[in-house]
Amino acid sequence: MASEDAGALYVLVDSNREYLRQWLPWVDRQQGPQDSAQFIESARKDNRAGVALTLGIEHQGEIAGVIAFHEFAGDNRQTSMGFWISSSHQGKGIVSSSCERLMEYAFTDLELNRVVMKIAQGNLRSRRVAERLGLACEATSRQSEWLYDHYVNQVIYAITADQWSADPARLRSAC
Ligand SMILES: CC(C)(COP(=O)(O)OP(=O)(O)OC[C@H]1O[C@@H](n2cnc3c(N)ncnc32)[C@H](O)[C@@H]1OP(=O)(O)O)[C@@H](O)C(=O)NCCC(=O)NCCS
Repeated sequence: MASEDAGALYVLVDSNREYLRQWLPWVDRQQGPQDSAQFIESARKDNRAGVALTLGIEHQGEIAGVIAFHEFAGDNRQTSMGFWISSSHQGKGIVSSSCERLMEYAFTDLELNRVVMKIAQGNLRSRRVAERLGLACEATSRQSEWLYDHYVNQVIYAITADQWSADPARLRSAC
């Protein structure tokens, strides 16, 4: 994402507020284009420093969502992923294919060993993305995420480099 994307990113968040708020904790902190500009600036800084990787998801030349590796855990060669896409772009396979591309990059180019997704237990759509990509459900963390006025349990999904290269699909499991 470039700094010029701040206006479009803010419009996307603002027009999807209720939909995003159901599962993402930061939505209320986005109160104007300046907040999106700050988000992009901070993401670009982290990208340059190699401590995280946050990218815009584009569809037909327009920003449709965001996907990220939140941090790279040094010697453990591990990262966690997050993503969202506007409601009008849902159900087209865009998030699944974006995750797949980025995970391939993580395991081949970055030579990471493990990719994790922490997903609210009730976010079935997001859990299907993880399961479709072959991440295994490892555990459930109780009340580990605060969403505005309540805690939610998070399901921990993960896949390792050897599992990814062997056959991601065979790992599908449900918690
Ligand atoms: C969760 C979320 C990212 C899922 O996005 P999505 O667009 O529905 O996911 P995908 O694009 O990968 O595809 C989902 C559906 O599209 C279908 N699809 C259509 N074409 C496809 C293709 N070429 N490849 C893969 N799936 C395809 C899939 O079968 C799937 O259907 P299913 O869920 O009934 O099995 C999205 O709903 C979202 O942003 N929600 C709000 C924020 C959020 O929850 N973020 C995640 C926090 S952990």
